[in-house]
Formats: sequence, structure tokens, C-alpha cells
Amino acid sequence: MFGVPYQRQPVDFAKLFGRESRVILEIGFGMGETTARLAASCPDADFIGVEVHTPGVGALLKSIGEEKLSNLRIVKHDAVEVLQDMIPDGSLYGVHIFFPDPWHKARHHKRRLIQPPLVALIVKKLANGGYLHCATDWENYADQIKDVLGRTSSLVMAPASRQNPLLARPATKFEARGVRLGHGVWDVIAIKRSDGKAHA
Ligand SMILES: C[S@@+](CC[C@H](N)C(=O)[O-])C[C@H]1O[C@@H](n2cnc3c(N)ncnc32)[C@H](O)[C@@H]1O
Repeated sequence: MFGVPYQRQPVDFAKLFGRESRVILEIGFGMGETTARLAASCPDADFIGVEVHTPGVGALLKSIGEEKLSNLRIVKHDAVEVLQDMIPDGSLYGVHIFFPDPWHKARHHKRRLIQPPLVALIVKKLANGGYLHCATDWENYADQIKDVLGRTSSLVMAPASRQNPLLARPATKFEARGVRLGHGVWDVIAIKRSDGKAHA
């Protein structure tokens, strides 16, 4: 029930969660502790976590059961296909991408997740006024993220705010490891323009 199989049709969120609410999708939740904490601290919102890593999916399913998190569902599949096929256009209140694989070496930068085609797809799936929240512990990737989001005309950059509980990101496992190694942390947030139009 909490694990949702990948399907090629758009999902009806009201049916999936049994209510109308704000839906936030997370790409690559890892072991899922942050996802579980956010879902527990924001019971009014609904969360969909997407991850391909089997142990992480198992760990988060266990947390859902133990903590009775009725507002969290998991899809074990490639997030790009999930966004393309399962998520209705203009339906998401937020998208979280916390500590995507950094691909440190310059020759591997093309493998990074946050690139213009994925950002365009996310923008299509966000509701007007919806947000994209990215975090990384790799400064060069933070610069790339700021550059890609900054050049997306339908997005406006926003300050990282700890006022909004949805944006007050609990520390992730990958982040804690980076901090132990002396890495910095960069949060980058952008909002989809509320008129939904592209601005020059
Ligand atoms: C570096 S880990 C970070 C995990 C977690 N967000 C954290 O901060 O602890 C990146 C995660 O993204 C997942 N991932 C990468 N590409 C993905 C994709 N296309 N679809 C779903 N998950 C993906 C990986 O399996 C991995 O667990």
C-alpha cells in the first residue's frame, strides 16, 4: 500500500492519499531518514519518495510502518520516468533533491542529475508558485545548480528559509557524512512563477 508500483499513467493524488493536499516529491531519498522526519513534521502535506536503491526503499518502508506515516508513499523506479509518466502536469507543490550524486570529476559532470532537461520537466510538473529545493555538499555542483535554475525563465530564485517547515530540511545521511569530511552545504531553492509564464 505504501509502495506504489511504477505505471505509465498519471496518478490520481486524491485517490492515492485519500484526500486533497499539497504533494511534495523527493528524488533520491537514500536511506529515507530525512523523508520520514519531514513527513512526520508536516502531517498536512503528502510526500512521494522516489529511489532506485533497494536497501533505502526497504528502510523507508520500515519507517513508514513503525511511525505510521500515512502521508508518505514510495516509488522504486527511475525518478525521471516517474516524473514523466506518473506525475500530472502542474500538480506538485514542491520537489526535493537532496545531495544528488556529485560526480566530482569534470569528465563526469554530464552524468549529474540537475541539468536543464530535468529542470524543465520539474517545472512542468510544479504547480504555479510551487518550489524546487536542491541541496549539495559540493560547491562546484551548487554553482551548476544555481546557474541552471537561474537561467530557467519560469523560475525565481528564493532564499533558503527555515521559517517554512517544508523548507526547513532535516540533515540527511549523505550530508552528515560530507560535514564529517569538512564539506560545506549549499541549499538552492527556486519558485515557479505564479503566473506560470516564462519571463525574459
Ligand atoms: C548521494 S545519494 C543521497 C541520498 C539522500 N538524499 C541523502 O542525502 O542522504 C543520491 C541518491 O539518489 C539516488 N538516485 C540517483 N539517481 C536517481 C534516479 N534517476 N531516480 C531515483 N533515484 C536516484 C541514488 O540511488 C542515491 O540513493
